[in-house]
Amino acid sequence: MNVSQDGAMTYARMSRLVSFFSGLLKRKKTVFSNVLHKMASCQPLYQHLDTQNILRLRRKSKMEDGDAVSSVQSQPSLMTPSDFDYLTVIGKGSFGKVLLARHRQHGGYYAIKALHKHTIVKRKEQQHVMVERSVLLKGLQHPFLVGLHFSFQTPNMLYFVLDYVNGGELFYHLQKEGSFPESRAAFYAAEMAMALGYLHSLDIVYRDLKPENILLDNEGHVRLTDFGLCKEGVAVGGIMHTFCGTPEYLAPEVLRGHTYSPAVDWWGLGSVLFEMLYGVPPFYSHSKAEMFEKILHAPLPPLSGVSEAACSLLEGLLERNVSKRLGERRDIVELQEHPFFASIHWDDLLTRKVTPPFVPDVTSPSDVRYIDPEFTLQPLPASVIDRSQEGGASQVFTGFSYMNKCTATGVIS
Ligand SMILES: *[C@@H]1O[C@H](CO)[C@@H](O)[C@H](O)[C@H]1NC(C)=O
Repeated sequence: MNVSQDGAMTYARMSRLVSFFSGLLKRKKTVFSNVLHKMASCQPLYQHLDTQNILRLRRKSKMEDGDAVSSVQSQPSLMTPSDFDYLTVIGKGSFGKVLLARHRQHGGYYAIKALHKHTIVKRKEQQHVMVERSVLLKGLQHPFLVGLHFSFQTPNMLYFVLDYVNGGELFYHLQKEGSFPESRAAFYAAEMAMALGYLHSLDIVYRDLKPENILLDNEGHVRLTDFGLCKEGVAVGGIMHTFCGTPEYLAPEVLRGHTYSPAVDWWGLGSVLFEMLYGVPPFYSHSKAEMFEKILHAPLPPLSGVSEAACSLLEGLLERNVSKRLGERRDIVELQEHPFFASIHWDDLLTRKVTPPFVPDVTSPSDVRYIDPEFTLQPLPASVIDRSQEGGASQVFTGFSYMNKCTATGVIS
């Protein structure tokens, strides 16, 4: 990447970004520290997000895994919006939309998240998007996480090309059934725990566990998505710059704006498990203020009608005192040892050998029956497709375009 050609990084912008990232670092465990250190070392900022470096790294790790790499080309060609046919809207937020798309040449299906640059810039969220991209670029690959294949941009839009996961939101199925039996809840909680434990092992705190980010794939396995991209940018007390969406699973220490550890995710998992077993989140209220209040202070509702093991796990995860919370000391290992997960064979789970308790009834990758009709009935927005102005970049998002060539070769050739 030629930095001078892409526009010089001004000192003001640089220092804003550096202070943003050091703010993140101060909050202890945080995202993508390698790049942050490099950024802080005053090199032209995004040089280190150079595609070739990332590809080299990824190829190296592939080789270490013993995979064939001969098909990986050294020069990736960047994608444009017209490489895809757009089939339907499958999600939407204040920054843009998520579209189901088919690659024209290869026929593969993807979820494309298309974001309007102007709304992101207006809300000063560009760092946040860069963070999300950075997280995704860290080469996250896990059976229970949605993967990123490419990103690219036009003068008006940013695009993330993600796995298309079409089994529906976990909570779509939960709402239909009211609650899940403990064995089914244990399966989902265990898969989520593995994904969260994997992120923690890379020093990433997921933090924003929420219903719309927990998906099922067509086989019925969990896939977490959306590493921190807001649907709504809501600031709480000026601290949670990146706080977004529904707060019902947020840990008390996050709401308070305290420093937090990966254990916030175990609180979140406790909330999700509670909702799977009881049909409602533990501290729910129609009023956001009241919900905050309950998360901070209300006693856990009585845990009737569930096993002793479920009770003890919920109490362990939904512990406000972080130093006493299950998972704070030895992370996922503490959960894996818990009696509630006694029937889970963790090695088989990780290799997707455990048969899911429920298989979504989808016939093909383009089957959108589990996607909310509110979205699928919408016309495709012309602005999102943005074919008229391809290949441009803006200074704000310099260095954004990216192709995960190794994954791409595996998926669409
Ligand atoms: C949290 O638990 C630890 C260990 O039991 C204890 O020392 C500490 O005082 C507790 N903190 C609060 C705020 O209750």
